Amino acid sequence: MDRFIIESNRDMSGSIEVSGAKNAILPIMAACLLSPGKSVLRNVPNLIDLKTMSHLLRIIGARVEHVGTTMSIDGSDVCFCEAPYELVSKMRASIYVLGPLLARIKEAKVSFPGGCAIGTRPVDLHLKALEALGAEINIEHGYIHAKAEKLIGADIHFEKSSVGATINTLMAAVYAEGTTRLHNAAMEPEVDSTIMFLNKMGAKISGMGSTSLVIEGVENLFPVEMQMIPDRIEAGTFLIAGALSQNPITVKNCEPEHLRVVIEKLRDAGCNFDIETNSITLYPPKEIKPVNVITLPYPGFPTDLQAQFMVLMTLCKGVCFIEDTVFPDRYMHVAELNRLQADIRLDRGIATIKGVEELSGAEVMATDLRASAALVLAGMVAADKTTVSRIYHIDRGYDRIEEKLNAIGGRITRENA
Ligand code: EPZ
Repeated sequence: MDRFIIESNRDMSGSIEVSGAKNAILPIMAACLLSPGKSVLRNVPNLIDLKTMSHLLRIIGARVEHVGTTMSIDGSDVCFCEAPYELVSKMRASIYVLGPLLARIKEAKVSFPGGCAIGTRPVDLHLKALEALGAEINIEHGYIHAKAEKLIGADIHFEKSSVGATINTLMAAVYAEGTTRLHNAAMEPEVDSTIMFLNKMGAKISGMGSTSLVIEGVENLFPVEMQMIPDRIEAGTFLIAGALSQNPITVKNCEPEHLRVVIEKLRDAGCNFDIETNSITLYPPKEIKPVNVITLPYPGFPTDLQAQFMVLMTLCKGVCFIEDTVFPDRYMHVAELNRLQADIRLDRGIATIKGVEELSGAEVMATDLRASAALVLAGMVAADKTTVSRIYHIDRGYDRIEEKLNAIGGRITRENA
């Protein structure tokens, strides 16, 4: 199993490029199951999760090719409706094939996703919405078995904002007879980019950028070509690396509009910015100010940057609080950061962070994707040497992170332990 050996260096500078957004590409890959013919996705990075999704789509009958940053998916021969446990247990986003399969071949069998390092992650909202569209759903032997001779438009009110449930329902509703209205839909940029892709394919979805979406069912969709949006979480991770540094850092190929709240919080911490259309230059603070953060659905502060922001706060001058209201148990990184001599107390779902002068290198273990990124950032500024093991988590969602960070002065070596 690979691990990172990280030597301390706060003297980073230069520019760093952001890749395509994993969480936008995963549902778009599944959306390709909705039509025969070959769709082409551009700006697709080399990530383990995208390989897992490719594997799943091939099992279902799609032809998937990924050369450089271009991925083509041909949904002409989609015929098999099952997403096996072996893949769903590796990656929960496999649930994204449920909506498209149900819409295209009237049946889907997807292994019920199990536990997860960031907390309980039910799929009840996905299932309720598909049932509202007329699907018959049974849970059998650990599988969600959904069938629908015909999907019919419905009014669906999500009791909680959910990225996955919104997207899965959209992908089923595009072929439903009549009009579907989604209320309290998620507004994340990944939802918008899926809507853009579906509309390009010929779907009729309006209301993008709001919590109310209206879908007029259509009979056919067509393959298309589209540029994938930049990864706002990767960009945010690099901005935080910049905030921990002593020199300015430019994050290129990003969408500043998607990072508004993150930029505001970094400004509160003392950072300054030059913001261009597709790049952000961050000027780090002399002294990191304490900033309280509560994670919320978009446009709120993203849960996927909570762990990385906490690393920045471990070095603040003062005390602050971080609460993750999206995934209230997403704090596995706290104990690991305390091994690096951070001072974080966790009480009833709220982390109290008392800034320390310096973190101290140690051996730590990555528990999930974003926690791994946080530990890498911490290792880059902790005195002496930090070893982060189980880094396969990070390869799920960051493309060559050590190469990118080393290009701005990081001292990270990948070791095959
Ligand atoms: C997506 O997960 C992302 N994954 C997550 O990123 C991200 O943390 C999350 O959205 C929130 O932004 C992908 O896009 C592949 P949700 P998703 O449904 O869709 C509850 C990463 O690190 N809920 O918006 O699964 C749920 O428990 C990953 O890249 C239900 O109760 O998240 C949570 O509290 C991790 N029932 C809240 O809603 C449901 O049926 C929001 O979850 C569905 C969700």
